[in-house]
Amino acid sequence: MDNLTRIFNHEVLNAEISQIRQFDESVSEFGELIRLTLGQPDFPTPQHVKEAAKKAIDDNFSFYTQTAGYLQLREAAAQFVKDKYNLSYDPASEVIATVGATEALACSLISILNPGDKVIIPSPYFSLYESLVRQAKAEPVFIDTSLTDFQVSPEVLKQTIEEHKTNLKAVIFNSPNNPTGTTWSKDRVRDLASVLKDYPDVLAISDEIYSEIVYEEDFTSLGEHLREQTIVINGLSKSHAMTGWRLGLIFAPAFITEQIVKVHQSLVTSASSITQYAGIEALTKGKNDAHEMRVQYKKRRDVVVSALSALDFSIATPTGAFYIFAKIPDRFTQNSHDFCYNLAKHTRVALIPGSAFGEAGEGYVRISYAASITDIEEAMERLTDYLKDN
Ligand SMILES: Cc1ncc(COP(=O)(O)O)c(C=O)c1O
Repeated sequence: MDNLTRIFNHEVLNAEISQIRQFDESVSEFGELIRLTLGQPDFPTPQHVKEAAKKAIDDNFSFYTQTAGYLQLREAAAQFVKDKYNLSYDPASEVIATVGATEALACSLISILNPGDKVIIPSPYFSLYESLVRQAKAEPVFIDTSLTDFQVSPEVLKQTIEEHKTNLKAVIFNSPNNPTGTTWSKDRVRDLASVLKDYPDVLAISDEIYSEIVYEEDFTSLGEHLREQTIVINGLSKSHAMTGWRLGLIFAPAFITEQIVKVHQSLVTSASSITQYAGIEALTKGKNDAHEMRVQYKKRRDVVVSALSALDFSIATPTGAFYIFAKIPDRFTQNSHDFCYNLAKHTRVALIPGSAFGEAGEGYVRISYAASITDIEEAMERLTDYLKDN
């Protein structure tokens, strides 16, 4: 171990492999499972987007692109978020195409964090946030949202900022949310923005990767209300069912992107040229490609909500993304890992334990409904039988 400590970065050495991966592997021993565990759309990428990529290959778009991405892609991206979310970014200087939202988050955090800085993260949370913050030798500060319907109130945000403001660098927001499936209303976004305006040196990193998957209200971006302090993270992984293509986007004021682009260049040079061409097609001719998927997701969501409600699970109203975060009925005394493990063992249905998303997720399960309606219905029947007998 001493040797390892000398060889490796200590934060990397201490980092765990994602609990989601670990859990997935541990239940694989049970054989064929219905997996409601996946964090990615089960739909194929739209055909016209695939055709654009094929053409880009045939037309020899096989060279490095500009570091921030093809200007045509950045123009398409800026127009997309203007038309849809009322955001205003200059394609030449305020948009960067990245290798998925993952790289967008990584290079944003690396470019702002110094060792010892603090970053506020509402919890439960997508575990990448904590890993990236820790790997940059900064410290996460969690806000437990489990008692407030997974919402952060302006008062609690202000209080947390005040408590940690000496070393506070940023706040990470994620609406629509993974793992809870909740979203923030327009009023909530405006109120949180107005708290942050009092702290102009604190940046907001707003992960809006699920912005096209909302069911009730229109999506509101933090960038609309707090443009000068916000790094908006988005991409095509969820909106266009393109997780494997790896195309993310950063929108931020030029003084911020000027710094981020340096890290982006060191990490990857540029996003894939073929993927960027597909992205231009998706963001221009496929502006509404998510609509049909949303209709399907909504039907599936309703099936899960009605099954779980009948089974004493309490659930935060799922208004976005494709997740339901459900509180395990009180009569079960085991923790969320053991509950999910036993469930998988006895029913061959895999859900993710809430503890994979931080302490505030203990006692919950995350159900992804990015799965076929047949699988979802079958899984709900098995869950119902299991709960009746236990
Ligand atoms: C909240 C959130 N942010 C970012 C990502 C990463 O997206 P990408 O596949 O574009 O890297 C995911 C993927 O599941 C996610 O759930």
